Amino acid sequence: MTRTYRVAGISGSLRKGSYNTATLRAAQELAPGSLDIDIVTLDDTPLFNEDVEAVGWPDRIQDLRERVQAADAVIFAAPEYNYSIAGVLKNAIDWLSRPEGDAPLNGKPAAIVGATPAFVGTARGQAHLRQVVFYNAMPLLPTAEVLIARAGERFDDEGQLTDEETRAVLKDMLEKFAAWVDRHA
Ligand SMILES: Cc1cc2nc3c(=O)[nH]c(=O)nc-3n(C[C@H](O)[C@H](O)[C@H](O)COP(=O)(O)O)c2cc1C
Repeated sequence: MTRTYRVAGISGSLRKGSYNTATLRAAQELAPGSLDIDIVTLDDTPLFNEDVEAVGWPDRIQDLRERVQAADAVIFAAPEYNYSIAGVLKNAIDWLSRPEGDAPLNGKPAAIVGATPAFVGTARGQAHLRQVVFYNAMPLLPTAEVLIARAGERFDDEGQLTDEETRAVLKDMLEKFAAWVDRHA
C-alpha cells in the first residue's frame, strides 16, 4: 500500500458514553498506518426533508457532507435499536445519499462495527444496515464482522476498549479493511 486513506467513522449514537463512538476511538488506535479515521458524530442533524433539500443544504448538513466527501471510505459504528439501526444513523444516511448519483456516500468502500450491552452484538441491526447501504453502491467489507456483545464488560468506565480479544478482532478487521479500501481506490 502506497498511500494513506481518510476514513469517515460515522457514529450512530449521540450518547456521551456511547460504546459505538468508543469503538471508533479504539479503531483510531488500532488501525494500520494507511488508515486515518476521522470520527464523525451526528449531533444536531436535522431530520431529512425534501422541501429543505430543495432550498439548499442546511449548514449542519453541508458540514457533514464535506467531511464524508473528503473521505475515501466509511466505517459505520451502528447501535442496534429495536432490532434495526438507530433512526439518527438512518436519517444521516438519507442526507448523505443525496443527490442521487453524486452523493457523499456513493460508491465508497465501507465497513460496519457495532456494540451493545446485550448479547447479540448488533447482528440484526448490522444486517439491516447492509441492506440500506446497498442503495449507495458501497462495497461492504465481507466476512470480517465486529459484533461487540456485553459491551459493559469490554470497555472500562473511561470508554477504553480493554478486552484483548475484542481489540484483536477489531484490529484484524481494520487490516482487512485497509486492503479492501486500497483495492477499491
Ligand atoms: C430504543 C432502544 C432500543 C434498543 N434496542 C436494542 C436492540 O434491539 N438490540 C440491542 O442489542 N440493544 C438495544 N438497545 C440497547 C442499546 O444497544 C444500548 O442502549 C447501547 O448502549 C446503544 O449504543 P451506544 O452505547 O453507542 O449509545 C436499545 C436501546 C434503546 C434506547
